[in-house]
Amino acid sequence: MGPWPLDPRGPQAEASTFVYWVLFACAIPVLAIVCGSLIYSGIKFRERPGHAAQQFHGHNLLELIWTVVPTIMVISFTGLSWNKLNSINDVDTGAAMTVKVEGRQWAWAFTYPNQPMFKLQDGTTLVAGEQLDIPVGAKVKIELTSKDVIHSFWVPNLGGKKDAVPGHTTSLWLQADGPGTYKGQCFEFCGDGHADMLITIVAHPQTEYATWAKAAVADANRLNDPRTKVGRDTFLASACVGCHTVKGTPAAGKVGPELTHIASKPNIAGVLSPVNQENLTKWVSDAPSIKPGILMPRFKGVLTDQQINDIVQWLLTLK
Ligand code: CUA
Repeated sequence: MGPWPLDPRGPQAEASTFVYWVLFACAIPVLAIVCGSLIYSGIKFRERPGHAAQQFHGHNLLELIWTVVPTIMVISFTGLSWNKLNSINDVDTGAAMTVKVEGRQWAWAFTYPNQPMFKLQDGTTLVAGEQLDIPVGAKVKIELTSKDVIHSFWVPNLGGKKDAVPGHTTSLWLQADGPGTYKGQCFEFCGDGHADMLITIVAHPQTEYATWAKAAVADANRLNDPRTKVGRDTFLASACVGCHTVKGTPAAGKVGPELTHIASKPNIAGVLSPVNQENLTKWVSDAPSIKPGILMPRFKGVLTDQQINDIVQWLLTLK
């Protein structure tokens, strides 16, 4: 389903959609009455041959109506919004889990709660760069921050948007009423890659959530293997993450191809086969000399031979 705020799929989104429709339903008659009487009066009382424009000097009843009615309407809207904002802003009551979300140019990193089901072998907890997986029907608190500039987190079908501000934590909550994939988008212009700063939330039925978590943790453990950890850390600290996605890590770049299963691919970028240590080393060292015009830069001289080797060793584990 497309990201669309008038198609709420959870209570947080329903609250704001409800306010929207009430305001919309009240605004239409106001528009019709104001524009209708403007056009009617303009035609009926206009000056024309044989007819002088009619002169008015106030009308107590009309003035009373157009003061009192809008006042009552505005006060009612305030009350309604106040009431809905109470639940929209209440991020803590009944929250089943808290996910820390960090925005950076140009991706989101989701850190799962410090609970046994998300624990990795090395003692850290599960971090995902591409999508957030949540259980259906559970209130999920999102704690937002940013590494660089202001971003804005918005998944329209599940709830209202919130800014991610560097050096500051903001929060919101989301809940999906049914299983599915919900798309979102960074909503604050944050630089060249703004349009690619997408959000995917996948809601799993409660009974399947633990199975998903187990598989995600197993994948992350494989990626976190201490034998190839140096390469992984080097990859995540270098320019690689700006372009490539490796599921189960914070790397979520969209410019280059996804590398989640690079070691199982038949070739590298369609030009180097097979995917082995020798070819990966050649490719990372100097891709432009192998495939002229490619966006991937030369890393020989940027990274040391040792660093390139570490990265290659890690890439070889991505099966
Ligand atoms: Cu991040 Cu726009």
